[in-house]
Formats: sequence, C-alpha cells, structure tokens
Amino acid sequence: MKAIVYDRYGPPGVLGIEEVARAAPRDDELLVRVRATTVNRLDCHTREANRSNGRVISGVSRLVSGIRRPRQRILGTEFAGEVAAAGPAVTRFGAGDRVFGNTGLRFGCHAEFTCIAETARVAPMPSGVGFEEAAAATDGALNALWCLRLAGPLKGRRILVYGASGAIGTAAVQLAKHFGAEVTAVCGPKGVEVVTAIGADRVIDYTKEDFTSDRDGYFSVFDAVGKESFAHCRSLIEPGGTYLATDGFRNLLLGLWTARLGDRKVMFKLPPRYTQQDVVLIGELMEAGSYRPVIDRAYPIEDVVEATRYVETQQKIGNVVLAVRGG
Ligand SMILES: NC(=O)c1ccc[n+]([C@@H]2O[C@H](COP(=O)([O-])OP(=O)(O)OC[C@H]3O[C@@H](n4cnc5c(N)ncnc54)[C@H](OP(=O)(O)O)[C@@H]3O)[C@@H](O)[C@H]2O)c1
Repeated sequence: MKAIVYDRYGPPGVLGIEEVARAAPRDDELLVRVRATTVNRLDCHTREANRSNGRVISGVSRLVSGIRRPRQRILGTEFAGEVAAAGPAVTRFGAGDRVFGNTGLRFGCHAEFTCIAETARVAPMPSGVGFEEAAAATDGALNALWCLRLAGPLKGRRILVYGASGAIGTAAVQLAKHFGAEVTAVCGPKGVEVVTAIGADRVIDYTKEDFTSDRDGYFSVFDAVGKESFAHCRSLIEPGGTYLATDGFRNLLLGLWTARLGDRKVMFKLPPRYTQQDVVLIGELMEAGSYRPVIDRAYPIEDVVEATRYVETQQKIGNVVLAVRGG
C-alpha cells in the first residue's frame, strides 16, 4: 500500500510517500481502507518531536514516539473509510461497513489502509456525511468533549471559548451549544463568519475588542488554542467556575494548586481518556445536525507536505483534510 512515512524527526519535508507492506489486522481488529484522513496538531507535534515546546516536553515526546527515530513511521490519527477485512474475533463490523474514528497515539492513518481494534475509537459513519467530513470529526471534538465534561453540567451556563476558530474551538462552540450553554466565542477577523455560522451566541473579534473587559461573568473560560492564561482570564470567571486548558505545563501545576486553593479551578487533565462511546456520540450528533466539523482545506494525500506547512501556520479554520484516492 502507499503510505506517507518519516524516519527522522524534523520539518514537514521529512515526510515522503512510499510503498510499504499493507497493514495486517489482528484477530480483534478491522482493516480499514482509508478514504480520507487529516493533518492535525498531534501529527505536527509528533513529527518534530515537540521541539518547539522545549527540551523537557521534547524528551517526553521522544520517550513516547521513539528516542532516536520514530517507532511508528506513519502519522495520521483520524480516518474515514470502509472496512476491507475483519479479524476472526470481530463481531460488530463487517467488510464494506463505512466507519470513522481516531487511532490516537497509534497513528497509522496517512496510508491507504489502517488497522484498529473493534473496541477502540471507531464507529459507523453517520448517514448523510461524506468521508472527508467524517475524517475531520474526531480530533477537535474528542478534545472539546473531554474538556467540557471537566467543567460539569453546562445547561443554562455562560461559557467563553477562546481560539474558537481552531479544530478544538469550532467543535467546542457546537458541543457547548448542544449541552445547553450560552456561548461567547473569541477569534480573529477571518474566523468570525464561520464561528457565527456554527452557532455562537456572541462573537468577539480579538483584534477589535478586549474580551477580558467583559463585565458579565462566565461559568467557564475554555482556552481552545493554548494561547491564553488563567491569570489573564481569572476576572471573567465566576466564583466556583473553571478555566479549561488544552495545553501548557503551567496549567498542569495550576490544576493541582487550584484544586486545593481558591474558588476558581484550572482543569487540565492528562492523558485525556477518549472512548468508543465518545466517537459514537460524535456520529449521533452529526446525524442529528448538532455538530459538523469545519473543513478549511482538503488536499490529495500526495500533497501532505504542503498541507502540513499550512497547518503549521496556525492559521487554519477548523480542520485540514487529506483525500486518499488509491486503495
Ligand atoms: N489537536 C490536537 O491533536 C492537539 C493535541 C494536543 C494539544 N493540542 C493543543 O490544543 C490547542 C489547539 O489545537 P487545534 O488543533 O485546535 O489548533 P488549530 O486548529 O491549529 O488552531 C488554529 C486557529 O487558532 C487561531 N489562533 C492562532 N493564534 C491565536 C491566538 N493567539 N488567539 C486566538 N486564536 C488564535 C487561528 O486563527 P487566528 O490566527 O485568526 O486567530 C486558527 O484559526 C493547541 O495549543 C494544541 O497544541 C492539540
């Protein structure tokens, strides 16, 4: 099968297309013919061994992915496609089923075929949804779901999503609305139209307005892009409320600290625990029209280097998809 591979950590140019042995499913696994996948932040961070996040984080990243070189040569965590074969112990999926999901740190989706256990993060594709949309459905939404659940029940609560135009942000806006929250979204000027269209009650363009001058309190402030700080947002959060973080070692420490002291808590729990039920829920929400992933650009998988460079501008709106034509 054709796959995008890399054998050393580095810039997007380390990625190349190669003919490799086809993935072989274990007894409890599905072999999925991949029709679409994505390039997301996890792919980018892993490919460069998190060098941009400092030596300590880079060291941890190499412990997970391979000290000197990557153990898993094929990146890509999100997929949508058809089951090409199923191991003998698989009972709930069969050849030809359309499925989507997320392989997480096992990666392997930047290829014509990938394998995933039937009990892992895989679910039937929702009806009326194409492969490219389904492929982009999980990364941002799983992260957003994990964070929003840490905040507690959101019905009738006010939440502010900072970085609302990213993969996590666009999912967070829609999911918070689904959970009954009143959502204020903060993004740059080019995100305003999309973020309004996906249902934010109020959109603040951070180039025109200082969102921290808002005098109405929020039950939660969700930094969906890892660019804000608890200290800067603290005055916006009601007593008993939470600051939801997606990134930053500092937030881990603040999480421990504020769990014991103070009346506003920083919530940042690693590793996130995403389940198959979460993917099933995402499929149901898509089918019900409550959640649709935002797709900024789609590239043929052969253009993975260009797609990756675009993702690394940190300017994408929602998600970047790779279409896989072969198989
Ligand atoms: N997705 C993952 O796999 C993953 C895994 C672990 C951690 N994370 C972390 O989660 C965070 C979000 O990931 P993501 O994939 O959702 O990001 P993303 O999609 O790459 O975010 C891009 C968006 O963020 C906006 N943005 C950039 N700088 C900003 C700023 N200073 N203030 C507000 N918005 C800004 C950009 O629009 P404007 O420039 O117009 O504002 C753009 O629309 C990142 O910190 C990432 O490291 C992600």
